[in-house]
Amino acid sequence: MSDRSIDIREAVTGDAKALAEYAGALFAERLTTMFLHDSPPTQEDQLRFIEGFEAENAHLLVAARGDEIVGMAGFKGHGRPQLRHAGIIGFGVAQPCRRQGIGLRLLNGLIAWAEADPLLSRIECDVFAINTPALSLLEKTGFEREGTMRRAIEVGGEKIDNYLLARIW
Ligand SMILES: CC(C)(COP(=O)(O)OP(=O)(O)OC[C@H]1O[C@@H](n2cnc3c(N)ncnc32)[C@H](O)[C@@H]1OP(=O)(O)O)[C@@H](O)C(=O)NCCC(=O)NCCS
Repeated sequence: MSDRSIDIREAVTGDAKALAEYAGALFAERLTTMFLHDSPPTQEDQLRFIEGFEAENAHLLVAARGDEIVGMAGFKGHGRPQLRHAGIIGFGVAQPCRRQGIGLRLLNGLIAWAEADPLLSRIECDVFAINTPALSLLEKTGFEREGTMRRAIEVGGEKIDNYLLARIW
């Protein structure tokens, strides 16, 4: 069930503290389906993270419930002239709030922003092959698998594939 008390909006620098709490909880899960982080993010880290999306060709959305951040999705455009129509995304939703349609709302919001930019026509995402929730969400929002980095990621002593997906328009 989609929770409409959760607002999908652009991140602001004042979100740094709440984003650090969100990211800290996500990193503490130590999911085998995404890259690990050694130390919990600080508010300062998250301020720099938010500021990293201030460029014209970048966009950071958060899912906010009051002062709390329960999800995020960010797009960063590539810098090289031949790649400027494309960029890469990352996203996540707080564990207690998953399977409530928030990831879908975040991705749809990011896609709508990107599609409104006449310079953009491609969104890329790379995902561990074992990350079924993320792969399913991406496929649901029109991403297609384009490539496989074979045995590219080590998870628990095993080498697994990393998939590159993209959505073009
Ligand atoms: C991937 C993630 C963002 C999905 O967010 P979410 O808010 O739970 O997703 P939604 O509730 O919007 O689900 C939308 C669709 O995604 C897919 N999906 C989500 N969770 C799933 C799961 N556990 N298993 C299979 N499919 C899943 C389904 O297609 C779902 O549609 P449906 O509800 O009609 O079946 C969330 O699981 C997450 O934060 N995972 C950890 C971080 C991560 O892996 N990020 C991506 C790194 S590239």
